[in-house]
Amino acid sequence: MTPAPKNRGAFLLVSCQGGAEEALCQRQQAILPELTKGAWRRGAVTFRLPSREALPVSPSRKSRCDPPDDFFPDLIFARAVIRSFGQVTGASDQERIKKLRVLANHEAFDNIHVWQRDPRTEVSPDSIRKLLLEAFCQSVSLAPIANPGDLVLDCVVDSVDRWWVGWHRAKTPASCWPGGVYPQALPEDKVSRAWLKLDEALVTFGLTLPPGNRACELGASPGGACQRLLEAGLSVVGIDPALVDQRVAAESQFEQWRMRARDVQIRMFRGFDWIVADMNIDPTGTLESIERIVNAPGVRPAGIIATLKLPEWSRASALPEWLNLFRAWGFNPHVRQLSSGGKEVCVVALKNAALRKSLVRKAILRRASLRKKTLTRTPDRAATQRPDRSGSRK
Ligand SMILES: C[S@@+](CC[C@H](N)C(=O)[O-])C[C@H]1O[C@@H](n2cnc3c(N)ncnc32)[C@H](O)[C@@H]1O
Repeated sequence: MTPAPKNRGAFLLVSCQGGAEEALCQRQQAILPELTKGAWRRGAVTFRLPSREALPVSPSRKSRCDPPDDFFPDLIFARAVIRSFGQVTGASDQERIKKLRVLANHEAFDNIHVWQRDPRTEVSPDSIRKLLLEAFCQSVSLAPIANPGDLVLDCVVDSVDRWWVGWHRAKTPASCWPGGVYPQALPEDKVSRAWLKLDEALVTFGLTLPPGNRACELGASPGGACQRLLEAGLSVVGIDPALVDQRVAAESQFEQWRMRARDVQIRMFRGFDWIVADMNIDPTGTLESIERIVNAPGVRPAGIIATLKLPEWSRASALPEWLNLFRAWGFNPHVRQLSSGGKEVCVVALKNAALRKSLVRKAILRRASLRKKTLTRTPDRAATQRPDRSGSRK
């Protein structure tokens, strides 16, 4: 493993969605109060670290948490967390690279991440990255997605003549992506951006949805997330008064209940393995709808994937309370502001591992029984058994 730089740097530089800086600082105060806020700009905040001795000891690792070398503070609103060397300014790229060599005093990096603090700045991150690869890496043809364990040199382009530079060790999925931004673009055949959000959530939280499971989505129209669930091999019910796109509605494993979540009779939620929620309403409304489902008799989902829209970033101060609700329902919640999401957070909350295992078993049995039915079914009977997609509840 490439060793971390000897000069680790006294500041953390944390990037976030423009506007989320205050929410990010609130979270830092809650989990790493030893840090002091330094300079900030839209989309980036720096924090001064205390001396190594004053850093808290992580109970799980029994060592001082000295981010971001093999430890990432769970800052929720952070996209990238890097240890800052400082700034380099200069009239040309070459001049800034020369200063960077002195500042870093460290030659070997496994990869280079270059991204813009403000996407409107007129520079080419790709051409800067090429020059930095020549200066600091053994190969100039490295793909920008780092491997876990890689020591990454970070260059945040602040303006045409100023870079903020630092380093981090790639570990979590998001820390392998330049600037912590999900590198997948929305494919043309997807019906909405929610497809990409769910895709990013699954990768970020390392979540595999067992094919054959059943999911319902509260707030399903126009249908991107349902499309992603169907692609994972799930059967899906989309709940929304607004119509779901025909490309999703036509799928044999999809059904729409055209109504508001609270108008669905509670017994109808029995048998769902996953509750997905993406309603454009206040988080308290979304949480009430989920609570109504998970507290109902006979309803035992393995997991919840909920988007909580934040009308104002300041509402993020209620996050600890909201997460406690998931705990009270018997789930273990993880939360992140996804890079493909808007002013919102994504909560992925799972029941314990034993229940998940039993779900996988259930999914295998369900698929086996479906295969058996398909083999024994006559073509005419199969045609008459297609689900009713009139939009009405059964
Ligand atoms: C952001 S869109 C959902 C996008 C969708 N998840 C997708 O994959 O394309 C929000 C949706 O929530 C729906 N909605 C709002 N309140 C709702 C409620 N009480 N019950 C069900 N759906 C609701 C709206 O009709 C709207 O279609």
